[in-house]
Amino acid sequence: VSKLHGRSFLREMDFTKEEFVSFIDLAMKLKDEKKRGIKHRYLEGKNIALLFEKPSTRTRCAFTVACIDLGAHPEYLGKDDIQLGKKESIEDTAKVLGRMFDGIEFRGFEHKKVEMLAEHSGVPVWNGLTDQWHPTQTLADFLTVKENFGHLEGIKFVYVGDGRNNVANSLLVGGALVGMDVRICSPESLFPANDIVELAENLAKQSGGRVTITSDVAEGVADADVIYTDVWVSMGEEDKFAERIALLSPYQVNMEMIKKTGNDNVIFLHCLPAFHDLETKYGRDIHEKHGLPEMEVTDEVFRSKHSKVFDQAENRMHTIKAVMAATLGKLD
Ligand code: CP
Ligand code: NVA
Repeated sequence: VSKLHGRSFLREMDFTKEEFVSFIDLAMKLKDEKKRGIKHRYLEGKNIALLFEKPSTRTRCAFTVACIDLGAHPEYLGKDDIQLGKKESIEDTAKVLGRMFDGIEFRGFEHKKVEMLAEHSGVPVWNGLTDQWHPTQTLADFLTVKENFGHLEGIKFVYVGDGRNNVANSLLVGGALVGMDVRICSPESLFPANDIVELAENLAKQSGGRVTITSDVAEGVADADVIYTDVWVSMGEEDKFAERIALLSPYQVNMEMIKKTGNDNVIFLHCLPAFHDLETKYGRDIHEKHGLPEMEVTDEVFRSKHSKVFDQAENRMHTIKAVMAATLGKLD
């Protein structure tokens, strides 16, 4: 773990398989300690900046609670609170924050911004989601897989839906890195970008994993251990609802798809927030009134025995804690 000290956490591919898995193993240990009331204040006296250009429930709360459990002080800085790239350059902001804080979390739009923060701040920077990658999510997802199946290698991990978003990119590359049989099942127009597929294929060659990109649902989900989906419209794409509903309806996770896996022990994962329960929130006539169908997952699957989405949400905290402890704390 000491090889991780002082490093930033921006993308899965910045780490070796062993390093990436070591975050998950450390998270398992920290989760067990937390449940047993054992303190682990590896960041005693440190100050952590939490920068958010986009809203967040899980990531913000996970970083905040993890900081406090580790003995650090978290400072939330929302999009209108500081001059990040508006009246002050990212470079100058990074230099200032680096003089005051010991670590920086960033959630925002362009991935370039989190890279610039890491380059100029001089302290570890952790990516809390950009338009391209969501690597702390991948750690929580893989911890949930490990808790359910005991291992990661060879797991048939199927992501269905928008194959070009941050979560899809991260799971594809992360899955290939750790040796999963990772599949993206989406319409061709939403297949992941070629350079990301190539990268995943190269990683899979080294790890013994497998990469499949397909638009065929039956082929994609056959024998799956994990069915994963994300929203059809990500933050910043709110004008795309109609287009995405038309494209992605055949990729909705419903009981029919769960049955198609042929595996009664298949688990369902979703990074959340999910669009599954429009009736409860907006009334039974929501579909007629606004033409909104159930989207990426039906309420039936979301609440079924297959669904591990709230374990997964909790695991955001344990894994984010592991990332901060390993890169900023003195563990050895
Ligand atoms: N999964 C996830 O990142 O959730 P938030 O957007 O609520 O942080
Ligand atoms: N793809 C989603 C993930 C949210 C956690 C988004 O970027 O909005």
